[in-house]
Amino acid sequence: MITSEEISTLLKKYDMRRLAIGTIGSHSALNIFKGAKEEGFKTVCICREKDTIVYRKFQLADELIMVEEFSEILDDRLQEKLRALNTLIVPHGSFTAYLSTEQLTNDFYVPMFGNRQLLNWEADREKQGEWLRKAGLKLPKTFKSPEEIDRLIIAKLQGAKGGRGYFLANSPEHFYKKLDEMITRGLISREDAQRIHIQEYVLGVNVYPQYFSSLINDDVELLGVDKRYESAVDAIGRVPAAEQLEISLSPTYTIIGNIPLTLRESLLPELLRMGDNVQKTAREIAPPGIIGPFCLETIITDKPEIYTFEISARIVAGTNVGIGTSPYAYLKYGEKMYMGRRIALEIKEAVKRKQLNAVVT
Ligand SMILES: Nc1ncnc2c1ncn2[C@@H]1O[C@H](COP(=O)(O)OP(=O)(O)O)[C@@H](O)[C@H]1O
Ligand SMILES: [Mg+2]
Repeated sequence: MITSEEISTLLKKYDMRRLAIGTIGSHSALNIFKGAKEEGFKTVCICREKDTIVYRKFQLADELIMVEEFSEILDDRLQEKLRALNTLIVPHGSFTAYLSTEQLTNDFYVPMFGNRQLLNWEADREKQGEWLRKAGLKLPKTFKSPEEIDRLIIAKLQGAKGGRGYFLANSPEHFYKKLDEMITRGLISREDAQRIHIQEYVLGVNVYPQYFSSLINDDVELLGVDKRYESAVDAIGRVPAAEQLEISLSPTYTIIGNIPLTLRESLLPELLRMGDNVQKTAREIAPPGIIGPFCLETIITDKPEIYTFEISARIVAGTNVGIGTSPYAYLKYGEKMYMGRRIALEIKEAVKRKQLNAVVT
């Protein structure tokens, strides 16, 4: 584990008047770069050849560092280059998708905006559950064994991306039948089958509130809310039920985009308290808790009850819907505030108060 002393030592060599904000060119990079530039920072993009068109067309990256694979950010020379550019890295979903938690916490010697320790909590479904429960959030019931299934459940694989291989079932028999089918179709390996997480299927709508935990202001802000547009699950409703049955459709959840959402105001008290409590618990399990953006993945039923099934302790791509226009960011900050810019603003404020050490790890 890279220590805070080691990061402090790296920061001492940084030129505070020439700080750059850097990230991997994907996910929410445009959001992060736009925000950085609006707050006066230089930007550094670690980029693959095939994606350069994005940063050429939008002109938001001052430096492009070309790589074949994102995992090259662990190379000594690349890390040195990032430090030479006085780069503060803003991690997003592609970091954990392309690198392991161990690599990020042990081998990446570039200051990161955020709390690296929480990566360990986020990566493990059991630990995540412990964190969220401790914060008093309502979670879908989990079933220890398929024999206990007495209602509609969703079966999830460990670390699956985009819900590939997830399936629904409503009894032990149904579960084993589906599992066999999924194995036969090659969607689940026998090894994965050993570690399936069985969770109550909550009937409701997807709601993803996006928060920003500011250590500088000692506050958790709600900056936006989105819902997801997922293929093929969001397409299934367009196929009539009779045909659905005939071709035995199973939903998959590949994220294609995000849709901004404004909630009825009566849901805000609980959602705001949930954000506060998640940060309060994070401070206990991994001081100083969440630094910067985080997102809860929730389903809200018709009661309405809010169930949380996942947390991302970093910027999520859903915040891209807020670039320039989130109603919640507007309510707090007026025009042109959004997650990427909020991050840059926090860094700027930390530098001004000589507290940069407090927001990078
Ligand atoms: N307990 C649940 N009840 C109903 N839907 C769920 C539940 N858990 C997840 N989902 C749905 O499944 C999809 C993928 O779930 P998620 O756990 O976020 O997977 P991943 O993050 O690996 O893509 C999302 O559309 C989500 O709304
Ligand atoms: Mg998810």
